[in-house]
Amino acid sequence: MVFLEDAEVLKNVRVADGIYELACRAPQIAGEGKPGQFVHMTVSPHRSTTSSPLLRRPFSFYGVNAEAGTVSILYRIRGLGTSLLAEARPGEHLSMLGPLGTGFTLPLAESPVFPVESSVPPTKSCASPIQGAASPQEKAFSKVEKGVLPAKSTVLLVGGGMGIAPLVYLADSLVDMGCQVEVFYGAETCGELVALERLEQIGANCHVATVDGSAGYKGPVTDLFPFLPPKTSPDMIYSCGPLEMMAHVARFAKERGIPGEVSLESHMACGVGACLGCAVRLKSTDEGYAKVCSDGPVFSIDRLEFEAGEGERNES
Ligand SMILES: Cc1cc2nc3c(=O)[nH]c(=O)nc-3n(C[C@H](O)[C@H](O)[C@H](O)COP(=O)(O)OP(=O)(O)OC[C@H]3O[C@@H](n4cnc5c(N)ncnc54)[C@H](O)[C@@H]3O)c2cc1C
Ligand code: FES
Repeated sequence: MVFLEDAEVLKNVRVADGIYELACRAPQIAGEGKPGQFVHMTVSPHRSTTSSPLLRRPFSFYGVNAEAGTVSILYRIRGLGTSLLAEARPGEHLSMLGPLGTGFTLPLAESPVFPVESSVPPTKSCASPIQGAASPQEKAFSKVEKGVLPAKSTVLLVGGGMGIAPLVYLADSLVDMGCQVEVFYGAETCGELVALERLEQIGANCHVATVDGSAGYKGPVTDLFPFLPPKTSPDMIYSCGPLEMMAHVARFAKERGIPGEVSLESHMACGVGACLGCAVRLKSTDEGYAKVCSDGPVFSIDRLEFEAGEGERNES
């Protein structure tokens, strides 16, 4: 169910240069928001007299506390909308629509929380050359499909930049379910690793990479794959971040025969599947388009086809 709430701002703090964390009271949305879903919200508090941007802006859940009735988002200032959002003060109200979209599949015993894109059969390229025999990836996908991935799975989360936001709420839920959660977390610089402390508090095992080498490994986060702890064989990979990063994740998942899901971004108008403003063609061979707002933003990794040079499209 989707709710429209007048969300009271509880805090809106700068956590790094140009990066903010916003927490709001929105009890109905908090009661139903799942990892990977998002809110579509106005960015101008009601007090504002500026000519606010017409359209709402989408943000993934960074944290949800159903008992307290609160939701939080982590955002980077990109343009007018996020600049206005950074000015919202505690006690002011923002109109929030949510929870929206299809979130991550959680490896719950016996029944999946979301019957999402992972139920799409694997592509031919993943199929076993032996007719009738399932490839390792097919077997793995069918485990997720049927929702029998054990609750105590080992999962790998790969996040870059603001792509870490939905993975933090996901990590929290997965740890609660008894999963071993390994996180590969990449950022430009040490100061932008704003979610690291929270991930460690949650109980995730974090491996860090920064472009400038100011923390952890110096280089792209996907260079860390060979450093996965010995004996760690992920049952599932989840990723969000720049497309180039997710392309590496997809290759790694395919090589290892591990099922995976990625969260995509696109510009959005309605946020609820009505305007086609967010439509993307996932594979060049696809006849139809998928709507990021309602079919996604989370898609099975094998439904995507990454092209060189697309890396900038999803780097918020
Ligand atoms: C499902 C979903 C979840 C998201 N979650 C988060 C989140 O957790 N944290 C976060 O910081 N951001 C997130 N975003 C992106 C966020 O919605 C945009 O950064 C925001 O809408 C920018 O608004 P603006 O008015 O500040 O920028 P605008 O003035 O609208 O744009 C500024 C610049 O950013 C580019 N841009 C804006 N939005 C996007 C986009 N979605 N993809 C690519 N380029 C874009 C524009 O082309 C322009 O160059 C998410 C987007 C989607 C679709
Ligand atoms: S934003 Fe309108 S259909 Fe997705």
